[in-house]
Amino acid sequence: MIIARTVLELRASLDSQTGSVGFVPTMGALHIGHRTLIEKARSENDRVVVSIFVNPTQFLAGEDLSKYPRREEADFKICELSGVDILFYPDVSTMYGKDEVSIKGPDVRGYILEGASRPGHFDGVLTVVMKLLNLVRATRAYFGKKDAQQLSLITQMAQNFFMSVEIIAVDTVREKDGLALSSRNVYLSEIDRTDALKLSASLKQATHLVMQGVRETNEIQRVMLSILQPLNVEYVAIVNRRFEAISEVVIGDTIVLVAARVGTTRLIDNVWM
Ligand code: PAF
Repeated sequence: MIIARTVLELRASLDSQTGSVGFVPTMGALHIGHRTLIEKARSENDRVVVSIFVNPTQFLAGEDLSKYPRREEADFKICELSGVDILFYPDVSTMYGKDEVSIKGPDVRGYILEGASRPGHFDGVLTVVMKLLNLVRATRAYFGKKDAQQLSLITQMAQNFFMSVEIIAVDTVREKDGLALSSRNVYLSEIDRTDALKLSASLKQATHLVMQGVRETNEIQRVMLSILQPLNVEYVAIVNRRFEAISEVVIGDTIVLVAARVGTTRLIDNVWM
């Protein structure tokens, strides 16, 4: 595995190999969810590039960037064992200069749900993903469905800017008990860990209701909210794939999303139906 820390090193390593490039951008603290993305990229491309970069522009003032988990040694091992060809590991000065051009998310879709809780977060995500995609010249880039709104906005950016990269959505990986894997799970205490299961339980019940024929989103949201008690729920939303609110579930074009604080940790989860 080549470790490239600068743009020059990345370009040289990309130029030294041929074939399609599968790209998995990450912020490190890699877990099985990331490994699943890497495996999929491995199976569909000649080469796999992973980036590890804790992107400062997607953290808002007051969000503790310095506390984001960093596990360089373990992450490098995971990449190596997963068959990554090139690991891009830039520092902030490699990725950002002063007074730069940046990408702004769409006025509505970029500022609802996650974007309402974290205004400007998606501007930072889109900007860094644009930079990374341009640097890596990926054939395909892989993103988890767990960050559904991020995935939807990145797909929209690739379309709106006529980018040639193919954005691939990968299913959420869960623990046996249903908890969606997330780098933030390390913050959960034992009690939090049990409470956190309410998120996946509410989504399971939503799926069950839809399978029983319930289509009214108000009714599904009501049941979900009762399961989520007494968590500090930020939202329970039911949208189509373009993130527009809907009153009835349409199979094949619906995402049910939940965000809640468990202890001091903010968790999100969703199910695509
Ligand atoms: O999902 C993430 O880890 C980040 O938002 C991403 C896509 C790597 C951009 O920093």
